[in-house]
Parts: sequence; structure tokens; C-alpha cells
Amino acid sequence: MANDASTVSDARPPAVSNDLLADPFTPPADSTLWRTNFLLGAATASYQIEGAVNEDGRLPSIWDTFSATPGKVLAGDTGAVACDHYHRWEADVDLLTSLGLEGYRLSVAWPRVTDAAGKPNRKGLDFYKRLLARLKEKGIQTFVTLYHWDLPQHLEDRGGWLNRDTAYRFADYADLISRELAGMVDAWATLNEPWCSAYLGYGNGHHAPGLADGRFATQAMHHLLLAHGLAIPVLRANDPASQKGIVANIGRGTADSDSAADRRAAHLFEVQHNAWILDPLLKGEYPQDLFELWPGTEPLVLDGDMQTIAAPLDFLGINYYFRTNVASDGARGFRDVPLEGVERTQMGWEVYPDGLRDLLIGFNRTYANLPPIYITENGMASDDKVVDGRVDDTQRISFLKRHFSAVDQAIKAGVDIRGYFLWSLMDNFEWAFGYERRFGIVHIDYSTQKRTVKRSAECVAKFLKERQARI
Ligand code: FCB
Repeated sequence: MANDASTVSDARPPAVSNDLLADPFTPPADSTLWRTNFLLGAATASYQIEGAVNEDGRLPSIWDTFSATPGKVLAGDTGAVACDHYHRWEADVDLLTSLGLEGYRLSVAWPRVTDAAGKPNRKGLDFYKRLLARLKEKGIQTFVTLYHWDLPQHLEDRGGWLNRDTAYRFADYADLISRELAGMVDAWATLNEPWCSAYLGYGNGHHAPGLADGRFATQAMHHLLLAHGLAIPVLRANDPASQKGIVANIGRGTADSDSAADRRAAHLFEVQHNAWILDPLLKGEYPQDLFELWPGTEPLVLDGDMQTIAAPLDFLGINYYFRTNVASDGARGFRDVPLEGVERTQMGWEVYPDGLRDLLIGFNRTYANLPPIYITENGMASDDKVVDGRVDDTQRISFLKRHFSAVDQAIKAGVDIRGYFLWSLMDNFEWAFGYERRFGIVHIDYSTQKRTVKRSAECVAKFLKERQARI
């Protein structure tokens, strides 16, 4: 596989094809998404795209260790090369620009920018400085996530997120990186999806570091949220002009029947997926229903922690993918009851845009202090193939159109939503599913690293062009 930093972009600019004349995508004229201050961008994450895991002093992360463990990732895939973005970043920025995308959400790899003592690794930092400088030059707004799951392995060796000290190490890392990158970032997000880090990483072991214990999950969550709360004032002090927030994945749970028991089950599903994170952040307390669902898992909380966690936010990032239909499972709370005959994606996830709308409207009611929202991830995987140089991802086009409409409906119902980032700019390492699941609007051929703009990307580009022409 080519690893040459000088490789010129092989991505072609998006040609708007004739078959789009029928326009299966563009939002209707009354959609709020036509507002030019509604930011439209795409998202990626360090471990999923960068590769170059042993270069320029990068240390191993928990995902290097986990993916090298047989049986943990489909087909034994790892992020060792991924999209080779570490070397191809210039071409990738050109691609982003050629599509007219206005925002880019990326993450910094903690083990790339610090050494084992927490001191700066200049070469790693320089990579992000070059990248952010180029994005700024191109007028692209940058949303930078500090932690998209690639914990330095040396911290995991000392207990990872089960060790309270990791929260303080995270605050130190936030301090270092925000001093280094001050003025180059439009919005900082502390964590990506603490639910996945805590539950999948420490509760059921599907993600790195692969531990499985209910009490671990709640304690890891507490330390993650504490890390977030400690980092927010640090980011404010070091980079006052930028926005500060956090990114949460949210899940819609619907009841399989109208019975009180099933409705309670759907409520508990949403407590476990949403309130577990949003209540501490926005109300300064854990939802008591969570510990009814998982008795005996209350984390150790020290005086002042909840106040730290509830630090005011400038924005809340929301990642939404699908809904889960559930029924009561007695003392175990809920069980999934997959619906028959519904549309699903390559992940098996149901396409359910109403879930996004309903959750956003619900949060707006529940949380008096709900900050402005950015949809920081939304998208779908499909088994995309390049045929005659093109990728016809029709399901994604329709998926995006319907989710844009859900966002529009939530805005019209009074939710303050400021932007939307597609997941993802390009196909990438989809964690436990490796490279088989393709979420990109740009196709990656992993044997040649050739980038091919999919038809969905052409649609988005066409819409953005029309919208920008209105200014
Ligand atoms: C989210 C992750 C992101 C990506 C999508 C499909 O949970 O934040 O990295 O894997 O799912």
C-alpha cells in the first residue's frame, strides 16, 4: 500500500450527473436547512482514518491493543493503515473543499500528541497544526474532539477509565492541546459518546479495552464525565473564543405494545442510553431509574464531582443512528424486539428519522438549560461498490434527505439546532466491524487508497452549491 506523503489526490471533483435532475435529495424550499448559517459538514475520527500508528512517536492506544487481539474485530482488521490520512491529509482537505462542505469534525489522537509522561510530542502536534491551518485557510469550520476512544495504552495499564486519575490526566492533556492549538479551533468537544466508552468498553466488552462488568461501566462513565467537567474550564481559559461542548450518542426506544410494562421498558431504555449522560451534564445528577435497572452499580462519587460535571456548555453534540423497539423483561428492564419488515442499513440498524426529531423535541422539554445543538454524527453504512468509476449509494441519499427533514421539523418545533455533520467523510475503520461497513460519502479502496466520491456526496455538494449561491 502506498505510504508516500507526496501522493497527489486521486479524488475527482464532484460532477453533478444528469440523473440528479430528478433530484431525490435537495430539501424542500421551506426547509430551515436552506439557512446559510446552518453549518453543514462531515466528521471523522483519528483512529478510524489516520493509520501511521507507529510513526513520529505515536504511542499505542487501547484500540491498537484491542484490534490486535484475535476475535475482537471482524476479519482481524486494525487501524494500522486505515485511510492513510496521516499522509494523505492534504488531498483529503482538498476533497472536503471540493464538496463545498463548510465544517469538519475531527479528533486528536491523545497518544500521538503526548509522551508517556504527558509531555508534548512535537511531531504529533505538528500534524494537527498543519491540518488545522489548512482547514482555516480554506474557510472550513473546525470541530475538534479530544477523545474519540483512543486512550493511550499506558493509561489503560494503570486502570484506564476505572482509575479516577485518568480524569486528571485528561484535563492535563486538554490543557496542553488547547494551549498548542488555541485560535485554530472553532469548537472543542471533550468526549465522543461516553456511553460507548463506558458501556461497550467496560460494561459488555464489545469495544476496547474489552472489560465486561456492569459496575465497571457506571464507574468508568463517572470518570469520563468528570474528565469532561474538569476539561471545560481549562479549555475556556486557554482558548476563550471557541465553543466548548461534548458529543453524546442518543438512542430512541419505542414500546412494543401499549402496555404500561412495555412503555416503562422503553423509558428505561432511554434512561440507560440518554439520561445516564444528559442528566449529569444538564441537571448535575444521575437518573435514579438507572440504578433500579442496574441495582448495586452506583459509582463512587466524591463531593463536588456532580457540580464539576455540570459545567455550563456552549453546545451539545448529538449523534443519532437508529431506534430500538423494546418490551418489558421483568426485573431485567427491557429486551429488544426487532421489528419485521422495516428498512435497515448494512449495520442492521433500522432507518428511523422520526426518532431523531422526537428525541430532540423531548430533550428541549426535559432540560431547561439545553444548550444549542449540533448534530455531530448521522449517517448509514451500505455495502457500496465502485462500478464504472461511480458509487450509486441511493439508500444513503434517501436516508440523508429524511434525516435532514427530521432536523428541520425539530427546528420548527423550537429546538435550537445549529448544524449537521455527516458520518462520515469517508469509509473508514468501523471499530469492531473493521472495514466491511462503509459509512462514507467518499468510497475508499483500501488496496490502493483511491478515493471515489459517492453519489450521495455529489447530492450534498449540489445542495451546498445552490445554498451558497443564495448568499
Ligand atoms: C459512532 C462513532 C463513530 C462511528 C459511528 C458509526 O458511535 O462515534 O466513530 O463509528 O458510530
